[in-house]
Amino acid sequence: MKVPGVSRREVLQQGIVAGASVSPLAKLLKLDKPQGKPRILAVSSGNGMRAVTKAVELMKEGEDTLEAAVSGVSIVEEDPNDMSVGYGGLPNEDGVVQLDACVMHGPTYNAGAVGALENTKNAARVAKTVMERTDHIFLVGKGATEFAKMHGFEEVDMLTERARQAWVRWKERLSQTDDYIDPAASEFLDPRPTGTITCLTLNEAGDMSGTTTTSGLAFKIPSRVGDSPLIGCGCYVDNAVGACGSTGRGEANILINGSRTVVENMRHGMGPEEACLDVVKRICAQTVEKRLLDEPGKPNFQLQFYAITKDGRHGGASIKGGSRYAVHDGKEARMVGMASAF
Ligand code: GLY
Repeated sequence: MKVPGVSRREVLQQGIVAGASVSPLAKLLKLDKPQGKPRILAVSSGNGMRAVTKAVELMKEGEDTLEAAVSGVSIVEEDPNDMSVGYGGLPNEDGVVQLDACVMHGPTYNAGAVGALENTKNAARVAKTVMERTDHIFLVGKGATEFAKMHGFEEVDMLTERARQAWVRWKERLSQTDDYIDPAASEFLDPRPTGTITCLTLNEAGDMSGTTTTSGLAFKIPSRVGDSPLIGCGCYVDNAVGACGSTGRGEANILINGSRTVVENMRHGMGPEEACLDVVKRICAQTVEKRLLDEPGKPNFQLQFYAITKDGRHGGASIKGGSRYAVHDGKEARMVGMASAF
């Protein structure tokens, strides 16, 4: 494929590779080329338009990249209408909302994380506090909840009425041999949501940070921890290279350490979209269990990766087509399509 004014390398960087569905040519022509020096940039998942807008606003005021990312996702964590993140998130099988989140701070190469956190809206900020106020990386369960309380995070009943109703309908439908009456098909969520938000930030000094925060797989087994709080899975930042975040089926991401693998791909020369697509294709190849397949080689779940480089490029890739992500390049926020394996 030859595009005037676009080198073969740039074509490859944007994921124009055999066997993969790719972003439209129009996007290619507008692609974010390396500019030689870093520039302000924020990238987030499809639910992150407000997050990237806030993050860029703060970085323009001189705020640290991690504080900017965490402040961005906090907006979505506090929004009861996003049922995949924070307050209003769908609960576990017992009706308890348990949050997972991690943060990575590029300039200090440090990180913090929480898993199965309860009664607190802002899991990403609790993860940041773990990074800043302890010698540890990852607190889980009761200890994480107590830690948040000790640091003054407001204790909140996290189960909104809408999320409670979705959970009850899921429970009523679980079995044909119990005494609950099955709800109508329009009343339950199928497939179970695995939404999440990630936010990656870059400033003019070339420093990067990232965070990923979620209420995890809806109706999960209590204390199930997904990929989001795991460093190298939900998020990974190498301040010399780039950053990656992920949303979607956590179990598949954990098995390949997806975000870390994307960053390593970029370290070895791939552009962000190509690096993400490589990992997506490896996940497809490694998904062999029948219960996880629509047909051979075609997973029945969705998983997305989002990546930025130190010089301000960005890209993403997903298993199934149609996913978009939020970008703010310092001028405006917009949604961008991502490459996909199918
Ligand atoms: N990626 C979100 C989760 O699986 O929990």
